[in-house]
Amino acid sequence: MYVCSCFGVTEKQVKEHAAAGACTPRQIASASKAGTDCGSCVRHIQALLGRGNCPRRELLDQGMPALAPETTDLSEAA
Ligand code: FES
Repeated sequence: MYVCSCFGVTEKQVKEHAAAGACTPRQIASASKAGTDCGSCVRHIQALLGRGNCPRRELLDQGMPALAPETTDLSEAA
């Protein structure tokens, strides 16, 4: 199923990028361009990232700032 129809990025691809360490919509955008055109998919991407698809997110939530470069600015992508 497509998450980003502008760039033809699927839910599976977003999950793969998340598994590879992309924990924010911005990092997903860097990896796949998803969310960088109309932006209507960003919320969906955020939802996918919030469902435990990113293994590093747990560490971030536990307060390991060394793993959180520009990952705290979710508001910008909303
Ligand atoms: S649907 Fe993703 S940028 Fe338009």
